[in-house]
Amino acid sequence: MGTKRSPEARADELRRLIRRHDKHYYVENAPEIADFEYDQLLAELTVLEKKHPELATPDSPTARVAGVPLEGFTTVRHAVPMLSLDNTYSADELREFDARVKKQLAVGSVAYTVELKLDGVSVSLIYENGLLVRGATRGDGERGDDVTDNIRTIRSVPLRLTGKKLPGTLEVRGEVFMSRSGFATLNERRVRDGAPAFVNPRNAAAGSLKLLDPKEAEKRPLDALFYQVINAFELGIATQTEAVATMVKMGLRAAPHLASCDCIEDAIDVCLSRQERRRELDYDIDGMVVKVDLLEMQLQLGATGKSPRWGIAFKFPAESATTVVRDIVVQVGRTGRLTPVALLEPVFVSGSTVSRATLHNQDEIDRLDIRIGDTVMIEKGGEVIPKIVKVVKSKRTGRPRRFRMPEECPSCGGPASRSDGEVDLRCESVSCPAQLKRRLEHFSSRGAMDIEGLGKALVEQLVDEGLVSDYGDLYSLARDEVAALERMGERSADNLLSALDGSKERPFDRVLYALGIRHVGSRVASALAGGFPSMAVLAAAGAEDLAAIDEVGPVIAASVESFLGAERNMEVVKKLRMAGVRMEVLRRVSRGGPLEGVGFVLTGKLSGMTRPEAAEAIEAAGGRVSSAVSSRTDYVVAGAEPGSKERKAKGLGVTIIDEEELRRLLAN
Ligand code: IVH
Repeated sequence: MGTKRSPEARADELRRLIRRHDKHYYVENAPEIADFEYDQLLAELTVLEKKHPELATPDSPTARVAGVPLEGFTTVRHAVPMLSLDNTYSADELREFDARVKKQLAVGSVAYTVELKLDGVSVSLIYENGLLVRGATRGDGERGDDVTDNIRTIRSVPLRLTGKKLPGTLEVRGEVFMSRSGFATLNERRVRDGAPAFVNPRNAAAGSLKLLDPKEAEKRPLDALFYQVINAFELGIATQTEAVATMVKMGLRAAPHLASCDCIEDAIDVCLSRQERRRELDYDIDGMVVKVDLLEMQLQLGATGKSPRWGIAFKFPAESATTVVRDIVVQVGRTGRLTPVALLEPVFVSGSTVSRATLHNQDEIDRLDIRIGDTVMIEKGGEVIPKIVKVVKSKRTGRPRRFRMPEECPSCGGPASRSDGEVDLRCESVSCPAQLKRRLEHFSSRGAMDIEGLGKALVEQLVDEGLVSDYGDLYSLARDEVAALERMGERSADNLLSALDGSKERPFDRVLYALGIRHVGSRVASALAGGFPSMAVLAAAGAEDLAAIDEVGPVIAASVESFLGAERNMEVVKKLRMAGVRMEVLRRVSRGGPLEGVGFVLTGKLSGMTRPEAAEAIEAAGGRVSSAVSSRTDYVVAGAEPGSKERKAKGLGVTIIDEEELRRLLAN
């Protein structure tokens, strides 16, 4: 139907439809169509705008992610300063607030709104004629950073407001945050990719909002809620309740669970009952906000230096407990990161028993002056991971032992070092058993090679007994050496060997993910396998070729290049290949190709094609591509600025050909 219409009309219609579904899905949490149908609409619009670039508009749903990373943020001035609220911690303090308000206004009763106090990062958005034109952080209250490009990536933030009568200018303020579930998924992904986990959703939201590359920000599960209309008077809005309703009407996600109360006692009830149920929400709140409802009154009350007199925060107490630090140990992660962890006398706090708490690094230990034997206070704030907030010094008895991060890896004794600009210590040793264990656990895990029966305990034994020192060794384990391990036996050994055998059939992208290359999570691995369909093709790629893939930025590209460039890694890859693990997307039927059995090595910059393209063409013709020159190499294809491989080829007397010659061989 729509295809008969002019492209312009169809584009308009599609945008309207997509915006409507965005609102249903992201703002109202009530989708009306299936994801598939939505994707189709978006795809149709994308194609239409590609074909008719003159039809593209800045508020198009296709324009959420800006193309280029920023060098830095521009500073913007807030027309109205962004203040903060005073805190209270009890019902009585709220009553005192109410008394102050009434006294200053000289009235007998005041109506209030009660809202959730979201634990995120405050932002200001400006819409002009309904279009989002600026998003800024609070900064020092007077000036903040222009983070418009990142704000645009948040799906629940409309790029265009809805409604007939839109204000010329609208400034709203609210909070950018991350849901608990979004945070958990993000952290899982980061840990898998060898990146440090965020401490809590607020830090994750703050860090994500400050990313210079909107493409990265888009991958972070950010969300936003709004609680204030700055130019409400201009728009004829009389109360905070109305302001929230107006924002909702215009398509903004505004102050959910807003309660309008006639008096402070009602407001107190709302605060206390929400405190009991704070965990029911999928995002962290650190309290409630009580505001005078009538904006006229707000204006009259004004502000002290840094906070308004018309509103106050009712902060929830963080749930805490005291316990004793039994010991501090150092954990070695998959990427060699050393993390101090406090082992605690088990204690029950808000729903679970806590017996460990991460101490992050030496700086944190020094800051809190934590010593072994100390009584400490631990807190579970909004976040799920408990943290030590302070030492109860009055309970310090005897001689508590100070702790220093070791200069050696506790597992292998290798040197621990700190790279530039990083606070974390890392063990750099390639043969560190603790790292090896973590890596093997990852290799065997569900999303990777999925080897049933090869869990933490067995990995521990295999490494400690010296049976396995890299992934490749797994596939040459002998039945009787496995059966001889503690708690094993012949049945279990057979099961393990058959699980290992089965894992050889895992698709190439899972193999890539299993290798545990830093920053290569399962998503990046599939993207890589999509662009480079075999290990040889991938190894032929330079950082530039890699970065041409959508999901791959410069950091990932460099990490992949360095991993595949390291000889010891390629040796392990070779072992895996020999064992029958898949090193290509699909086993190609290359029998009878013109280059069957001919071995190639690519070096230098080719002009008519990239190295991965050349590698793919060679493999498609039946040839073999490897990364190192050996006696099995028939040709070295040398492009511009060839490296040491050309020299080695000369030494071994291998034929060196140029790109032209390669084309001729391929054409034969
Ligand atoms: S009203 C004068 N309402 O809490 C500032 N703030 O210190 C008026 N916050 O910076 C803010 N939820 O980032 C308001 N429903 C809510 C809020 C809220 C969270 C944050 C905001 C502000 C801080 C108060």
